This record gives sequence, structure tokens and C-alpha cells, in this order.
Amino acid sequence: MEHMVFGAGLIGGYLGAALMKSGRSVGWVVRPKTQQKLRNGLRVTDYLDHDERVENLTFVDVNSYSADQHPTYLWLTVKCTALQAAVDDLKRVVGPQTTIICLQNGLGAEDYVQQQFPDHQVIRGVMAANVAELAEDHLHRGTLGGIDLPKLPVTETLVPSFQFAGLPLVLHDDLEGLLWAKLQLNLNNPINAISNIPLKQELSLRDYRRVLAAAADELLTVAAAKGIVLAKLSPLPPKLIPSMMRLPDWLFVRVSAKMLAIDPNARSSMWEDLSSNKITEIDFLNGAIVREGERIGVDCPVNRAITDLVHQIERGEKSIGINAKALKALLLK
Ligand SMILES: NC(=O)c1ccc[n+]([C@@H]2O[C@H](COP(=O)([O-])OP(=O)(O)OC[C@H]3O[C@@H](n4cnc5c(N)ncnc54)[C@H](OP(=O)(O)O)[C@@H]3O)[C@@H](O)[C@H]2O)c1
Repeated sequence: MEHMVFGAGLIGGYLGAALMKSGRSVGWVVRPKTQQKLRNGLRVTDYLDHDERVENLTFVDVNSYSADQHPTYLWLTVKCTALQAAVDDLKRVVGPQTTIICLQNGLGAEDYVQQQFPDHQVIRGVMAANVAELAEDHLHRGTLGGIDLPKLPVTETLVPSFQFAGLPLVLHDDLEGLLWAKLQLNLNNPINAISNIPLKQELSLRDYRRVLAAAADELLTVAAAKGIVLAKLSPLPPKLIPSMMRLPDWLFVRVSAKMLAIDPNARSSMWEDLSSNKITEIDFLNGAIVREGERIGVDCPVNRAITDLVHQIERGEKSIGINAKALKALLLK
């Protein structure tokens, strides 16, 4: 088996289908509920009108896995919060030569996996696109972007596996800068979740954006101290994003028309998690900035306060739906 997708949710499902469409052999590690969902195959579409279907997926039973089936590449696509519980099953399917590729958001997932697999090559990747479920067996890539990986001999061997135009592979000399730039964008996830309103509405309110700008300032300070140059993912250089966020509403709405051209009902995935009482990935997002800052002596009080607040909501001690003014008063001293 060449590829194995471990955890076929939004990104794992889309990736597995893209690899199959590229003519590669793919094993799917899924739980019974997902296996039932995918029993008749999976449709993948995107905003560029690609529309494909894969059928006869090969599901892998981790309990009766034979060593001669070990994959060359294992794509780890569970959420950060599911990593610990997945380790035992992972150990059953990873062979001595398997390369593990981690596609989680934020920082730290790959360090944890490398600790668990000290003798394996563990690679950090980025899923740059946004994937949403349009129906039980239908995943849709709603934005630009595909899989970003560091340029290494082992990742260069992956190029033939990405023939499906709906999921491009890009190899980078500097993945770190991209990772941190993506983290900067993801800093809005908890604010949107806490606001309990759609992204478009939340980003139109200056006090929410002031909190976001303060969190982004801390990220930029930590990144600069570590010598990381953030990649440019939007027309605006990453350094100027906090200043744009602080603009008055009337001006922000004008200069960010493109950014706000999003589905009026779209919300962050952390909102999905908090509103369905699930544990979030906050420790790998804002929490990771706090930890990185502590390592080099840079305090990050805003990211710490956001992390603490999300944990309080997870524990049921506070609720989502905090308005912009109240959130600013709570988090910005
Ligand atoms: N969605 C996006 O557009 C996007 C974009 C970029 C990055 N990301 C990042 O990618 C990661 C995955 O996100 P996602 O949106 O794809 O999450 P998701 O839809 O929740 O998918 C995760 C999948 O992993 C499965 N899983 C968890 N533990 C498992 C185990 N031990 N064995 C088998 N399957 C297991 C889950 O199954 P159950 O449902 O049974 O728990 C679920 O199907 C996150 O770190 C996220 O931040 C997502």
C-alpha cells in the first residue's frame, strides 16, 4: 500500500479521494460511523468546478493489520485533540519504513508524533484549503490552496501522487514561514467561536478585531524573536494585518472587501466544536504561541487569556455569545 489516510474527516477524506483520483493505492483508517458514510464512495468537488467521485474504498482494520501492508506514506489527518488516543492504533499500521505526514493546524502536533515515533521520519505539512462537507458523502474545497510540504528528498517522491487538479501539492524551501502565517489567520478561530455569530458579522466589529490584532501582535513578536519570516498569504504583508484590523469599521469594510466576500453564514470550525461541547484545538493555536513565547522569554498575555477563556467554555464555566465590547474589556487590559 502506497498511501494510508488515518482519520477521514474533512481534509483526510478530500486528500484520500485526491490520491485515488491520481491513480494511487490508498488505505483508509476510519471508525465504523465513517465507514458506513463512505460505503458507496465519496464525491469531491471544488470552487473551480472539479467534480469527481471515488468508489470501492479500501478500509483498513487496524486490529487485523498485516505487516506486509505497511504504507509508504501515512497521512495523519485527525484533529490535534485526537492524536493521543490514536497512538496505539497508529503503532499497529506504521511500518519501519513509513513516513508520517502530519496535517494538523497550529503548532506542536508533529512534535508529539515524533516523540511517539522517534525512529521515523515525521513531516509537518499544511492543508492550505478549506474543506467543507456538503452532504454525507460529498466534500468540497471552497478556497484556493492544497497541500504544502517542506522540500525534502522524501516529499519530492510524492509529486506523482498529486495529479488531481482539485488538490495541488506545493513543496517549499521555508515551510516554517507558511506555518506561522497560517497560524496568524487561524487566530480568529477562537474569537469567532466565542462571538457565536458568523465570521462576516464578527469581522465587521472593531472590538473583536482589536482582540484579534492584539493576539496577532504577540504572534509577530514571537516569530520575529525566533527569526521566522511569515509568508504572505493575503495581499497585505503579515506585519500590517494587525493595523488593518484596528481600523474603524467604516474604513475596514472598504479596504477588506475581498476578505469579507465570504459566505454570510460561515463560521470557524472552533465554533462547531464549542457549540457541540467538544474539546477544541486551542492549545495548538493560541496556546502554542504562549508556549513558544515562554521558551524565549516573550510574554503573550492576550493569547493566554484567549486560551484560558476557551478552556473555561469547554468546561461549561462560561458560554459562547460574548459581545465585542465585553470581550475586549475581558481580554485587553
Ligand atoms: N477542515 C478544514 O478545512 C481544515 C483545513 C486546514 C487544516 N485543518 C486541520 O486538519 C485537522 C483535521 O481537521 P478536519 O476538519 O478534517 O477534522 P474532522 O473533520 O473532525 O476529521 C477528523 C477525522 O479523524 C477521525 N478520527 C479521529 N480519531 C481517529 C482514530 N483514532 N481512528 C480513526 N479515525 C479517527 C474522526 O472520526 P470521528 O468523527 O469518528 O471522531 C474524523 O473523521 C485539524 O487539525 C484541522 O485544524 C482543517
